[in-house]
Amino acid sequence: MSEEIVLEIKGLSSSFFTDHGEAVAVNDVDLKIPRGKIVGLVGESGCGKSMTAKSVMGLLKYPGRIVKGEILMGGRDLTKMSDKELRTVCGNDISMIFQEPMTSLNPVLKVGRQVQEALLVHDRTMDKGKAKEQVIDMFKKVGIPEAEKRYNCYPHELSGGLRQRVMIAMAMVCKPRLLIADEPTTALDVTIEAQILRLMKQLCRENDMSVLIITHNLGVVAEICDDIYVMYAGRIMEHAPVFELFDDTRHPYTRGLLMSIPRIGNNPEFLHTIPGVVPNLLHLPKGCPFSNRCEYVTDRCKEQLPELLQVGSEHSCRCFLASGEAAEQAENPKETEGSVRV
Ligand SMILES: Nc1ncnc2c1ncn2[C@@H]1O[C@H](COP(=O)(O)OP(=O)(O)OP(=O)(O)O)[C@@H](O)[C@H]1O
Ligand SMILES: [Mg+2]
Repeated sequence: MSEEIVLEIKGLSSSFFTDHGEAVAVNDVDLKIPRGKIVGLVGESGCGKSMTAKSVMGLLKYPGRIVKGEILMGGRDLTKMSDKELRTVCGNDISMIFQEPMTSLNPVLKVGRQVQEALLVHDRTMDKGKAKEQVIDMFKKVGIPEAEKRYNCYPHELSGGLRQRVMIAMAMVCKPRLLIADEPTTALDVTIEAQILRLMKQLCRENDMSVLIITHNLGVVAEICDDIYVMYAGRIMEHAPVFELFDDTRHPYTRGLLMSIPRIGNNPEFLHTIPGVVPNLLHLPKGCPFSNRCEYVTDRCKEQLPELLQVGSEHSCRCFLASGEAAEQAENPKETEGSVRV
């Protein structure tokens, strides 16, 4: 039985047009979010994760814009909608938790009222008392202590972590079909992080909600995701169901990210980091964007961009080593000796 796809991104490219040229922040990205599933988008800082989310929500600001591609939801292309249509779709079906929570709350309104307002706009038939009850219930679920009291606080009276939890409550209380969560738990301590991630998973199951969770932390995605997309310099480098990505990692970049996850008992002094830095989008290497940091780099990688190819039934990877050469070597076992499996 084929699964229902709630949102499909097809060949999406979004660029910034700067004085120094076009910086392609999202480069020919394909991504599918199935119903009731949690999809992770991971990669280092600056690789285009937030720009992908903002493209979906129609929130790219000048000098950035979508250059090509489709964003399909319910058979309609969001990139072709007017601002008004898009706001209706996003208001009813998609909620987003932003990376910068401080900018998303109104400083002169009590936080409880703001979340209640969001709920009442979503369901105009609900009475105010019931809405308040649901808001306090959601505040408790996201771990806001003394929820009744905090309902009447202004944003500046709450800590950063509590404000982030208010934002999470606001996004989840309307039970959207799709929740886009951009680094939702980065500002929180680990106990609250675990609690929020569990709650997302629970809501996902109970309400058939889908989630796109954006993070640079592969530990987070391992906890809750069904499917993972690894992004680098605007491109999807690897995509697989979570267990397969961890068990049968194909891309050297994904391997680097996995090795950078801190583990209990590991000496932090020996924590692996990927050498080098994410390339400047205006000066990308000619071939594979990861070639200047990759320990398996060949001359071909420096000249030619590998395609994102199927390496398993639900697994794709953008690396010559993982796809083309692996296949060639499998046909010619002698040459396999000494070859590297990343
Ligand atoms: N206004 C802008 N003008 C030019 N380039 C920009 C602008 N805003 C963002 N970028 C570039 O777009 C690229 C992608 O940025 P994006 O915010 O999507 O990264 P990210 O993966 O979300 O990183 P982080 O983990 O730090 O949030 C970055 O290289 C950034 O420098
Ligand atoms: Mg970001």
